[in-house]
Amino acid sequence: MKKLFHPITITFLVITFIFLLPSILPSKKVKVLTDDTLRERALSTNMLPTPKTYDELLKVLDNPQNPMTAQKIALGKELFNEKLMSKDKDISCATCHLLDKGGDDNLPTAIGFHGRANPFHLNSPTVLNSALAKAEFWNARAKDVEEQAGGPIQAPFEMNMKPQEVVERLKAVPAYVSKFQEVFGTAIRFENVRKAIGAYERTLLTYGAYDEFLEGDNSAMSAKAKRGMTLFLTKGCKGCHSGMSVGGQSVQHFPLRRYFSDYVGMIFEPDLHIKESPFPFANEGGFLGKDDRLKFRVPILRNISKTAPYFHNGAIKELKEVVRIMSKYQLGNEFTPKQIDEVVEFLKTLDGELVEYEIK
Ligand code: HEC
Ligand code: HEC
Repeated sequence: MKKLFHPITITFLVITFIFLLPSILPSKKVKVLTDDTLRERALSTNMLPTPKTYDELLKVLDNPQNPMTAQKIALGKELFNEKLMSKDKDISCATCHLLDKGGDDNLPTAIGFHGRANPFHLNSPTVLNSALAKAEFWNARAKDVEEQAGGPIQAPFEMNMKPQEVVERLKAVPAYVSKFQEVFGTAIRFENVRKAIGAYERTLLTYGAYDEFLEGDNSAMSAKAKRGMTLFLTKGCKGCHSGMSVGGQSVQHFPLRRYFSDYVGMIFEPDLHIKESPFPFANEGGFLGKDDRLKFRVPILRNISKTAPYFHNGAIKELKEVVRIMSKYQLGNEFTPKQIDEVVEFLKTLDGELVEYEIK
């Protein structure tokens, strides 16, 4: 007992307490930024507006290994909607990626060949703006949209085809034979199917209120949305959800922070694996992200209000709840209900319409 009151012990405890104080009492104070400062903050960290002209788009997104041309893009669009590329001729990319529904299917998990659900219970991410990501898929296993496009065609629980079958089916359609010849100068090849679809996906960018604000229109966003944007920029969301697509640029741990209370549940459910149990929601499907380390490609937040349910496994229905989880587990600073509302209001300004590029 005497030892406990030793001056060195007390000094140590006091220092530890002072050091930990900010994390015990997270500051709820938020800076108030003027419209100009808010805009500058975003722009200076590469949160840029979507290009509105085709020339600007090419600067941002053209792929030197797969240069965009009007004919290639048109062919890619046709293939994106082509059901012949699925075993039962009943599914296309557009079945799970509905462009007018936020670019996804609004299901908790994707349903493909013969009604098969994704075996990892994975949620379909949006294809809108996905070409802006540094890597594709929840675990970032494809480097770009061209590489990605080969995946779903072959997945047994999606379109369930062999590359050779795809080529044969398309070869039986004379119009495709001549279009591939025109665009690629060769007979139909699977690699070129992927390339045409990729070129088309590079044009699927959306523009909305957030872009208008970034381009100088202060009236494009409400005061509440601006407060939400301030939180997003100053509290750390932007650290992960960054760039023009507001996400898609890196792979990050989720959950990043753990709480003692998360582990308490394990006392009652000792079978739970230590990696999974503090997961803030049921880990349906057993998917553990990149290298099975609970690392996920940070999702793109453009059009997020239209792509419920959320997270890689579609476990959370409400955007509000997602924001609360993010603030608690990714920032270690749980937002108040008012702050959550403000951030949700900001996230809604990320909705947009497909830009109708004058493709040359
Ligand atoms: C059965 C539903 C289904 C079909 C059909 C489908 N997808 Fe997907 N798509 C998904 C799911 C689920 C994922 C996430 C899979 C993963 O991460 O492993 C995904 C991921 C993607 C991504 C990655 C987005 C990102 O930000 O990481 C793109 C791009 C995409 N699909 C485009 C396509 C294209 C192109 C086709 C057609 C060739 C297609 N999808 C067909 C369900 C589908
Ligand atoms: C440390 C990196 C990091 C930070 C900081 C972060 N996020 Fe996330 N966010 C992620 C990852 C990774 C996921 C995907 C998790 C999953 O699906 O399992 C995600 C998912 C989301 C989703 C769901 C997306 C979807 O399509 O399902 C939203 C919305 C979101 N975050 C908003 C925010 C907001 C708002 C903040 C700030 C309060 C924030 N995030 C802070 C990494 C981060």
